[in-house]
Amino acid sequence: MSVKIQVQNVTKIFGPSARHVLEELEKEFDKKEVLSRTEHTVGVYDASFEVEEGETFVIIGLSGSGKSTLIRCLNLLNRPTAGHIVVDGEDIVRYDRKQLREFRRNKIAMVFQNFALLSHKNVLDNVAFGLTVRGVPRAEARERAAEVIGMVGLEGYEQSQVSALSGGMKQRVGLARALACDPEILLMDEAFSALDPIVRRDMQFELIRLQKRLQKTIVFITHDIYEAFKLGDRVAIMKDARIVQVGTPEEILSNPCDEYVERFITDVDKTRVLPVKSVMQVPSCLIRSSAGPRAAINEMRANGVSSAYVVDRDLKMLGLVTLSDTLEAIEQKRTIPEIMRTDVASVDEDTILSDLVPMAAQSSYPIAVTDAEGHLTGIVTRVAILSNL
Ligand SMILES: Nc1ncnc2c1ncn2[C@@H]1O[C@H](COP(=O)(O)OP(=O)(O)O)[C@@H](O)[C@H]1O
Ligand SMILES: [Mg+2]
Repeated sequence: MSVKIQVQNVTKIFGPSARHVLEELEKEFDKKEVLSRTEHTVGVYDASFEVEEGETFVIIGLSGSGKSTLIRCLNLLNRPTAGHIVVDGEDIVRYDRKQLREFRRNKIAMVFQNFALLSHKNVLDNVAFGLTVRGVPRAEARERAAEVIGMVGLEGYEQSQVSALSGGMKQRVGLARALACDPEILLMDEAFSALDPIVRRDMQFELIRLQKRLQKTIVFITHDIYEAFKLGDRVAIMKDARIVQVGTPEEILSNPCDEYVERFITDVDKTRVLPVKSVMQVPSCLIRSSAGPRAAINEMRANGVSSAYVVDRDLKMLGLVTLSDTLEAIEQKRTIPEIMRTDVASVDEDTILSDLVPMAAQSSYPIAVTDAEGHLTGIVTRVAILSNL
């Protein structure tokens, strides 16, 4: 993993004498007091974090905490009062106009909460617009636009008037427009916050699906903790212009750094945010499909279990055998592949715990956890799931 964006001690103060105000600022300043004394607003104070290439980094905080101010520093829509923003090793704060134009043209794109579309134009033209203003020839722009329109699930809507679309569809257009120039970095400022809950869930799913394929570096802003934990590889929590904690959802849930974060997450239903991989365990007993029933019995006995998963040489999950079936197999001279049950429950390691509860209630055995290629990476017991409820 390489670092894509380094935000180093970034401060943004709004007002004509921002630098001067910053110099006079006490470390433990009070935003309201600073405003009434100096008529300057501290938007972001001393923010530092890194975003890895291909990571979805979420910034969450209450309204007014400085999220938009911070994300707008990343493409210099806001010029920081102090600090550095290093992208691919270059400090973009030092860029001249030409370098900045290139940076915005090729490397970074933004999706806005209010869609910011041209409502009198159709979907195709809206998506192509971002390219034509960048100097891409019209025919080529339309071809590329058609491609990304398919990517975000808008196929067939190319000629639709944007003003006639629902909110969710509009934001798909916004996303397509941002993706059209194939940016390496995608900035999304409350991009889903205006959508109603069901549409919003669809869009979150869509983004996860797209991200699996495109592997962009995404900085995503939200004020919804569930959205943050669902989308974020890591999450930064902001309060009063400062970043108070950065971590994975698991780290933040299990180790809130202060009372504020604790209160922030206190009502979070962990099963709705924690993935299976955070509670799964290494299976203590695995049976190779080539093993004989007697060896399998010995394995199970040695590990004190009455059922075990069967895997091939590459640890691909094939099925499950029980102790009693295996004992019978010895008498009947049958092999492990002949007696194993293949109708067993298995889940992807990124499955959210709450989605597993119905399965856990039905299954008499631990549930197998597999990666995208079907390799067994762990098992999760009913007690691990139900005790997290
Ligand atoms: N252009 C601006 N001029 C003056 N103050 C601003 C400006 N933009 C934002 N602010 C102030 O900066 C603070 C952070 O705002 P913002 O970044 O929009 O918060 P959030 O996106 O978390 O709701 C707020 O106090 C806001 O009033
Ligand atoms: Mg905002």
